[in-house]
Amino acid sequence: MQAESPGDAVSESLAGAATSSPAARSPEEESAHYSARARIEELRHSIRYHNRRYYIEHAPEISDADWDRLFHELKSLEEKHPEFFSQDSPTQKVGAPPEKTTFAVVEHREPMLSLGNVFDGQGLRDWHRRAATLIDRDDFAMVTEPKIDGLAIALVYEEGRLVQAATRGDGRHGEDVTPNIRTIETLPQHLTGSPPARFEVRGEVYVSKSSFKRMNAERERANAEREKEGKLPKPPFANPRNAAAGAVRQKDPSESAKRPLEIAIYQLGWSDGATPGSHWEVLQWLAALGFPTTPDASRQTTLDGTVADCEAWVPRREAWPFDMDGIVVKIDDLGLHRQLGTVGREPRWAVAYKFPPAEATTRLRKIAVNVGRTGSLNPFAILEPVHVGGATVKMATLHNEEDIHRKDIRAGDTVVVRRAGEVIPQVVGPVLSRRKRGARRFHMPKICPSCETPVVRPEGEAMAYCVNTGCPAQRQRGIEHFASRGGMDIEGLGERWITTLLEENLIADAGDLYALAPKQTAIEALPKMGKTSTEKLLAAIEASKRRPLAALVFALGIRHVGAEVADLLTQHFGDMASLAAASEEELAAIDGVGPTIAASVAAWFQAERNRRLIKKLAQAEVQMTARRRASRGGPLAGQQFVVTGRLESMTRNQVEGNLKQLGASIGSRVTKKTAVLIAGEAPGSKLEQAQALDIAIWDEEQLRTFLRQQEAGTTATGSSVP
Ligand code: IVH
Repeated sequence: MQAESPGDAVSESLAGAATSSPAARSPEEESAHYSARARIEELRHSIRYHNRRYYIEHAPEISDADWDRLFHELKSLEEKHPEFFSQDSPTQKVGAPPEKTTFAVVEHREPMLSLGNVFDGQGLRDWHRRAATLIDRDDFAMVTEPKIDGLAIALVYEEGRLVQAATRGDGRHGEDVTPNIRTIETLPQHLTGSPPARFEVRGEVYVSKSSFKRMNAERERANAEREKEGKLPKPPFANPRNAAAGAVRQKDPSESAKRPLEIAIYQLGWSDGATPGSHWEVLQWLAALGFPTTPDASRQTTLDGTVADCEAWVPRREAWPFDMDGIVVKIDDLGLHRQLGTVGREPRWAVAYKFPPAEATTRLRKIAVNVGRTGSLNPFAILEPVHVGGATVKMATLHNEEDIHRKDIRAGDTVVVRRAGEVIPQVVGPVLSRRKRGARRFHMPKICPSCETPVVRPEGEAMAYCVNTGCPAQRQRGIEHFASRGGMDIEGLGERWITTLLEENLIADAGDLYALAPKQTAIEALPKMGKTSTEKLLAAIEASKRRPLAALVFALGIRHVGAEVADLLTQHFGDMASLAAASEEELAAIDGVGPTIAASVAAWFQAERNRRLIKKLAQAEVQMTARRRASRGGPLAGQQFVVTGRLESMTRNQVEGNLKQLGASIGSRVTKKTAVLIAGEAPGSKLEQAQALDIAIWDEEQLRTFLRQQEAGTTATGSSVP
């Protein structure tokens, strides 16, 4: 399901669009071009949805004739616009039942469980005591194994041959990914020796750290090519786990084959024939049958030995060729597994000893200072690149001057860098024993590094500020923020474009972006700009005029006004003029807006230059009123959406607000009634549930594309979502 998720199609067709805008197009042609793209995407979504209703759920919603009409409209649009060709289009799969395009669902004979966690030696001892109490003995042996950070897979062998490979899914139902798993070179397709007639083994599919680096280096090279051809770059893989998951879920096994997948078998699932009586023996037995079993497993006969073994792994983890997030401790005797059983989805006979957040040491080359959009001076560390917890870190935040002094961090120091999950890396502190003589304490610059205005540090605040509202660095950051995803979402308007436009005096503030269209020739003539990208940029600027008011309020970059406050203000005032005219008292009276925010907002709207900006935006016809919430009958009426995971560019409230505005209802659980699951980063079990129920899954990119189309009004009919 995931590989089939419409996101792939959308990003591919967008990439296609970027490639092939012909050199010259009239504005009418341009707009026809963009709406064709939107319609094509919509039709593809819609046909996939109806295919699923028909072939998989056996519950069609439309007549065959209506389906034919959709299909033919798509086909003829694709013929007219070959630039939007996509391998993923339903038109490329004529006659093939969609079972082949998605993964078939496999029911696991024994559920695939997850593991409880402990975070230190004491936690492990507590787990051991609980198990010992239940079985009334504490002398059992344990096996420790690295917990590889990849994807769980269940493999069924019949008469010594691999017949099925399935993902974990929701633990009971997974996806059949057999052809993709067959491409893993180290996995035996035929077993040696005399295996049981039918049995299942389980293991982790992963990409090693070095392969991961190579995959991203290759992607970078390919992106350089793509850029030359005017195509959008493909984002790098975030970590080895994502790289592995993507490879396992490829629709085309020959694509999986190109990815350097590896596998480690760590467990026996079930067996129709005799198998050894202890986990340790199972591992030896599996190895003898030809399986690559978990490397570096060890059998421990005492609790102290087990704790020491786990702790000894901590400093070695970085040196290991694959990412691991802990050690799995399993009781060796399989008879005891049966006695102990499981609670919920976690067995009592095994536990994960999780590592503390990843840390590494490296050299701090320099403490640099960057000027933020509000004028804050933000110190940060420029580091000798180092691999920490699955990512290469080159920079880390240093918060403020006090924090740097408290930790006594100095340029040239060897420092400990910590990275927990996806958060910004932190400098924990220096390794004092390795400090070079003469290392100097850091001092915040007295003048702004960009405009040289004296820096001010307000009473009681930790941050220092450049108070020059005309500061070029602030101006640059302000426009970057204005164009950012959560703001006006002007695709393609990044740091480089903004620097150039400012340097060339083509803009002085965000409002000037909307006066760029008549200057098209001048922009095209700039080095590295060109006609196609200029046209695309201008179209994106034009489209941003229809962003919702809350996005505009956020985009203004008023201090203390994040996405949520922007939402509150918009809901309360309904239009920009009322917000701009609001007094500090009026603002402070709003639920969720305190005195600090109120003062900041009121002051912002009083400043002459900001008033001029608002005026410019209004003259450019940027949308300045909030649209009413559609109570009933919006394009998503009757459709239930569920949102899960972390989104980068929007808050949960914003997403839900946007969807509700279009008539959708928001559910908290994934059920058969769910129309679409919006899955952000770390989506958890909802994603698996949606996959098992074959519910449409959108990633953030798809959601944004969809919302943008709605804003632009390019989605002709709203009824055929997903
Ligand atoms: S044993 C019931 N052993 O961790 C125990 N799991 O949180 C089943 N994993 O889904 C798992 N390395 O994907 C086991 N050596 C190992 C493992 C391992 C990685 C993953 C596996 C599982 C998850 C449990």
